[in-house]
Order: sequence, then C-alpha cells, then structure tokens
Amino acid sequence: MILGRITGKVSTTQFQFNVTSSKTRKFQFIQVHHPDYGVVLAQVMELERTQEQLLARCNVIGYKDIDNRIKGIRTPFSLNTEILEAEDSFIKRIIELQSEGGFLGNLEGKNIPINLDLQKILTKHLCVLAKSGAGKSYAVGVLVEEILEKNVPLIIIDPHGEYAAMKHPTEENETLTQWNLKPKGYSAQIQEYGDMNLKQDVRPLKLNEKMNSYELMKLLPLQLTSTQEAMLFSVIKDMEEINFDNILLGLEQLNSSAKWAIIDTIMYLRDLKIFSPSPTPLQELVKPGKCTIINLKGITPEVQDVIVYKLLKDVFLARKQEKIPPFFCIIEEAHNFCPEKGFGKAKSLDIIRLISSEGRKFGLGLCVVSQRPALVQKTILAQCSTQLIMKVTNPNDLRSLVGSIEGITAETEQEIQNLSIGSALLCGFVDRPLVVNIRPRKSKHGGHAVDMLSQPTTPLSETQETSFLTTTNNTITTPKNLTKTTTNIPPPTNPDEYHKDIVQENKNYAEQGILPVILPQITMQEIRMMADKPINKITTYLIPSVLFNCDLRGIEFQVLIDRIKGKIIIDPDKDVKQDIGQVSYRSNFLRKMVYQKVVADVQLQEVLTTEKLKGQLVKYCGVTDFKECFIVYYKVEYK
Ligand SMILES: Nc1ncnc2c1ncn2[C@@H]1O[C@H](COP(=O)(O)OP(=O)(O)OP(=O)(O)O)[C@@H](O)[C@H]1O
Ligand SMILES: [Mg+2]
Repeated sequence: MILGRITGKVSTTQFQFNVTSSKTRKFQFIQVHHPDYGVVLAQVMELERTQEQLLARCNVIGYKDIDNRIKGIRTPFSLNTEILEAEDSFIKRIIELQSEGGFLGNLEGKNIPINLDLQKILTKHLCVLAKSGAGKSYAVGVLVEEILEKNVPLIIIDPHGEYAAMKHPTEENETLTQWNLKPKGYSAQIQEYGDMNLKQDVRPLKLNEKMNSYELMKLLPLQLTSTQEAMLFSVIKDMEEINFDNILLGLEQLNSSAKWAIIDTIMYLRDLKIFSPSPTPLQELVKPGKCTIINLKGITPEVQDVIVYKLLKDVFLARKQEKIPPFFCIIEEAHNFCPEKGFGKAKSLDIIRLISSEGRKFGLGLCVVSQRPALVQKTILAQCSTQLIMKVTNPNDLRSLVGSIEGITAETEQEIQNLSIGSALLCGFVDRPLVVNIRPRKSKHGGHAVDMLSQPTTPLSETQETSFLTTTNNTITTPKNLTKTTTNIPPPTNPDEYHKDIVQENKNYAEQGILPVILPQITMQEIRMMADKPINKITTYLIPSVLFNCDLRGIEFQVLIDRIKGKIIIDPDKDVKQDIGQVSYRSNFLRKMVYQKVVADVQLQEVLTTEKLKGQLVKYCGVTDFKECFIVYYKVEYK
C-alpha cells in the first residue's frame, strides 16, 4: 500500500513524505525504492500536520549489501518516490531479529516478536532507565518471567519490596489473551528474604559474619583514625576466625581508651542482626530455576547498603570459585547503590563496578535499573551492552543517556521524551535503537514505588523540609554583610594562631563578608542538575550553629549543634540529628568548617546561646574547644 510520496529536502539519512494514507503511523517501518541500492528500509519518526498537508519525517535504516551487511545509502532518494509500508519479512531480513530468546514484546506497530538473547544479557549486562512510573519494573518483571522460564538463577535487589507479587498470576487477563499468553504465578520458583516482621513467607537473610580485615573496615559506619585502624589490625591480624565476638574480645583486652570508639562501631554492626556465623548458604540463594528476592523494604538506606555490599561481594567470590552457577543479578534503584561521583557515597559501589567490568568472565550478569540515569556511575552504565529505555524527560538524564549510550543521538532524545507507557527503546540489541511494545505480564506487577525519602542523594524539598525552618519562635532576617561573590578563603595555617582569638577573627572576616560556614555536600548547581521537576526557587539559609571539640574517654571528636533547636546535627543536608543527651563518637561531624563569602537570602536568628549549649553538652562529655559557625542550607521549592 502506498503511504505517500517523498517531498521537500532529502538527505542520505533523513527525508519526509507527503502522507496520503491514513494507515501511516509514528515508528512505522517503511520501504522505499532507491535507483542504486534497491529496496531500502526506513522508519517514520514523527508525523507533522500543517494547514495544507500531513508530513511524515523519516530516518533511513539501510539495505543489505551482497555480503549481507546492513549499509546506509550514499545518495539520496529521488523526489516523489513512492513510500510503501514495509513487509514483515523485509524488516526481519534487514534488522535480523532472533527467532528465539526472552520474549520481551513486539516491534512497535508490528507483529514481529523481539526475543532478547539471554546469553548476551547474562554476560554483557543490561540497564533499564526511565523516569519514575514509566514502566521499568514492569518491563524487568517481563524479563524475570522469561529468565525463570529458562531456569537461569536470579537475585533481585528490591528496595521497595515489589517483586514478590510475581508469585501470583496477573488478574489482567484481557490483554494477555490478545497476546496469546496465559496468566502465571511463579510462587514455586520465588523465595523472598527480608524483614520477617513486615511480611509472612519471608526468610531472614543472614550474611556471613566471617570476613577479612578489608571487608570489616569497609563495613564500619565510621571513618577510623590511623591509630584506631592500627589498633583494629593488631587485634585481627592473628585471629584465626574474624567475627564480631572475637574482635570485641580482643579489643576489650587492649589498654588504650581509644578502643571504645571501635568497640562501639563493631557492636553497631553486630546488633544489626544481619550477620551470622551460620549464614544463609549461597547455594540456597543462587540455584537453577530459582529467583531470590532481597526485599529491603523497611530497612534504612545505610543498612541496605551494607547488605548489598556484603551479599554481592560473597556471591561474586562464590561465582568466581564456581561454588554457585552463573546467574543474573537485578539491582533496582541502582543510583543508591552505585552513585555517580559527587552524588553520594555507597559501600556497594566498588563491588558493583567490579561485577560490571569482570562479571562477564564468570557468568554473572547485571541488570541496573534506575529512574535517574544521570546519578548512576557512568562507568557502570558504559559496561551495559544492552539498554532498555522508557520515557525520560529530565534534561540532565537525557543528556547523560546521549553521552553514555551508543546509538542515542539528539534525535533519539526527542523519541525518548515522547515514549508512552508500554513502549521502550531497546538499544544495543541490533545496530540501531528499536522501539518495542513491551508484552503484558503473566504475573502480577508489584506496583509503584513511592519511597522517595530512601534516596540519599535527593536534595531536600518542600516535603522534606528541614526542621530548622519549621521552628516558629525564631525571627528571620536578611543578612546585610553578605556579598554576591563566592571565594574560598583558607583559614590561617598556624593552628595556635587560629585558636587565639576566634571571636575577633570571626568579626574581622564578617566585616569582609566572609563567614565560617558548613557547606552542603551538594552544590546549588548539582541540585539543579538532579531535580526531576522544574525548580521554582532555591533559597539559601544561614543557620547559626556551634562546632564543639569533644572528648569522651580520651577520644576526640567534633559535634555540630544548631543554635535554634539545640540538636546535634549529624547530616545537615538530610536533617539527620539527635538530642544532646545521645552524644557519642557516632555523633562525630566529619565535614570541615570553611571561611567563605556566601550568597545567602535568609539568616536565621539564634535562639540558644553557645554557653547554654556547652553547659548541656558537658553533662555528657568533655568540651575542649568550640567555634561558632553557620550551616548553609538550600531550600528547594518546585513549580
Ligand atoms: N508495559 C506495560 N504495560 C502495561 N502497563 C504498564 C506497563 N509498564 C508500566 N505499566 C503501568 O505503569 C505503572 C508504573 O510502572 P512501573 O512500576 O514499572 O514504573 P517504574 O518505572 O518502575 O517506576 P519507579 O521508578 O517509581 O519504580 C505500573 O503500575 C503499570 O500499571
Ligand atoms: Mg520501579
């Protein structure tokens, strides 16, 4: 059937035609005769209506040369050439689709199945990227069904506890029937591990308590000083079996009072109750035909990170030693476990990076799923040879896709923004991106993730507003002495001088518009980059605070206390704080105070004096010094 005729400007990669048939659709495959190359495959990318006509903008895909290779054309089509709808056999011949594999869906608008090469995915990794609610988990569910049907073992890192729904068949039978598929539950193959208090039918996940000194250091929630590290090494170096009880026993025998901070952190790890001398056997987690879901719902992000790190480390090693079969590992909300530089820290980052670069040698396939591609480590995304992309609208995420995925051009960028639910762009499958109609699920879909607060890198928004700003009894003034430029002024180098007259020094600096400040870990520019909705306004607040040098049983640490509510601030960006009575080594504030000119909109007035705060603090620990300063806090308001 003739769909129209070529008109307007024609190049070797693009052309347009005047649509004369109502059967013309976006993403439709078309065939066009070329005087030099014979029949050439092309695709409708957009339909544009003007007052006079309906125009279809098309991309040229290519033709098969005598060596059976797909080639682009070197001279443009002639004007007025007929455009025909492409025959299925012709499309299949040009883009060489597989007849077997994991059935993901159909080529958009066609009855041509897209079967993923599971062997390729298992060895060369996959990423699934799209904005929230665009259909990532739904599509991953389709893939899980296919993988389970091929009996390949799976581990799913499931921060929102949504995959266990796959145990049950879907109730949406109508669409399945149209696809000639039947509802199916996978209860016999799925085993969920997680918090038994939250859900029935869940097994507790017990990770191996035995670990080497490197792993132990990595798992500790605090950065140890070199003395503390040396102390820990002295205890574990000759230990036959490194486990928490043995370490605690060894540490308690030491004479130094510096041991208490380490004892405290080891006890913290032990009390998480996720480590055990009799861990869940890895052969139970990775078994042919089985899908292990690690349900992290209800677990704090820090502990989720510890679990993912230790679990992946152990299974990767076991796979290398061939103690478990090749398997596929799906990591949902990957930006939390393998964040891009400057967007947070994660213990699991290194092991995920290692699996992404070396997993293929050992048969450990990775599927990285994220709603914020810009926040996932580029090096990890770059290792994924297949990409499934659904609708993305955030300009930074789009930019990161164009930058890191081969085959995604500025033009494809437009396509990605316009994808509807159920459609996905599949890249790296054949030599050009294909739009796929994802098939309906046989099993139940676990629903939509809403736990935005578990993302450690998300800036504070109006819904997560820090409690400094919700206080009612402080007045707000606009700072007068703050200028518009931002310059880093290093503190004086001689520490004695630095401490001599801190008050006078602060005064001098203040006169120049320079203030002692604790800066946010995320810059204003990064907040703008990370936002997935338009920002209306960012207000910079200065919150008066004091940084105390404390001493507890001979160990020195820093504590930051705000002068409005009088709380110990653990993380000002995420509003993590504790009462003064809870002060311990773990209150240690690791960030440095800097002297800097700040562009601030609002300076909060202090409610509590430094003397009063000190008076409270000395009830619980020694105070050796203090510095008054300001926390710089960005309040983000969205449109
Ligand atoms: N291929 C599809 N066919 C039919 N419905 C779909 C499809 N993909 C997604 N949906 C619908 O869209 C909803 C959101 O999809 P899904 O949960 O997969 O989003 P997501 O991208 O994983 O979001 P989040 O990032 O918030 O986890 C689903 O509950 C489902 O109803
Ligand atoms: Mg999801």
